[in-house]
Amino acid sequence: MSVNKEIKKVTTNTLHKMKEAGEKITMLTAYDFSFAGIIDGAGIDVILVGDSASNVMAGHETTLPITLDQMIYHASSVIRGVNRCLVVVDLPFGSYQSNSDIALASAIRIMKETGGHTIKLEGGEEVIESIRKIVSAGIPVMGHLGLTPQSIYKFGTYTVRAREEEEANKLRRDARMLEEAGCFAIVLEKIPAALAKEVSQSISIPTIGIGAGPDCDGQVLVMHDMLGINTEFKPRFLRQYLNIHEQASAAVQQYIKDVKAKDFPNATEQY
Ligand code: KIV
Repeated sequence: MSVNKEIKKVTTNTLHKMKEAGEKITMLTAYDFSFAGIIDGAGIDVILVGDSASNVMAGHETTLPITLDQMIYHASSVIRGVNRCLVVVDLPFGSYQSNSDIALASAIRIMKETGGHTIKLEGGEEVIESIRKIVSAGIPVMGHLGLTPQSIYKFGTYTVRAREEEEANKLRRDARMLEEAGCFAIVLEKIPAALAKEVSQSISIPTIGIGAGPDCDGQVLVMHDMLGINTEFKPRFLRQYLNIHEQASAAVQQYIKDVKAKDFPNATEQY
């Protein structure tokens, strides 16, 4: 029997047990009530209300513009659609970088106003004091290392991170620091598979990979990418399971045809 199937509600503890049992953790993003219900009902372990909402929901080029109030709106919608999975909510850019008091205040707003279960923030040593403070307040924290999209203007591109030894060493150190600070899991984004494997084996908390190879303790994808809602974004690490864009477009074209042809509504579709 898998750890996943045995439990009624997924908690941070469940994820630790899954790592110990060698059972992979599944995570997908969601931003609204309806898709959260579909994803939770299908048996996912974790939903991430990602700040990727800035890209896929609001159409911004980066994750930087989304606000704390907007994240709270998305997260509270997701929570109303979920029965079983663990919900992680991203702290958006600008809501935690200034100092640890502001970081804690933002995390508390997420927990109080959304009903979310945990928060995620990006970075290692630079944000360690904030992580300690949030964890001390009883709020579970997921870390995020490697490609951290809130720092895109520092990196300059979305290419693979930590290929060079110096950056790989910093990532190794940061992962240990996040574990010691009390993070319950860490997202590893777009780093070499061998480094992700080494880090995953060297810490006791689960790693969740995106573009980080098969040896992370779990995997995460952005829902819009894996369902083919967005079809322009095709990085090598992405597996697209559906082409909703094509199917939805065909359905809308058929609706237009039916209305223009006076075929919709028909005799049974009226009062
Ligand atoms: O915001 C997001 O969707 C994320 C995932 C890419 C991990 O942080």
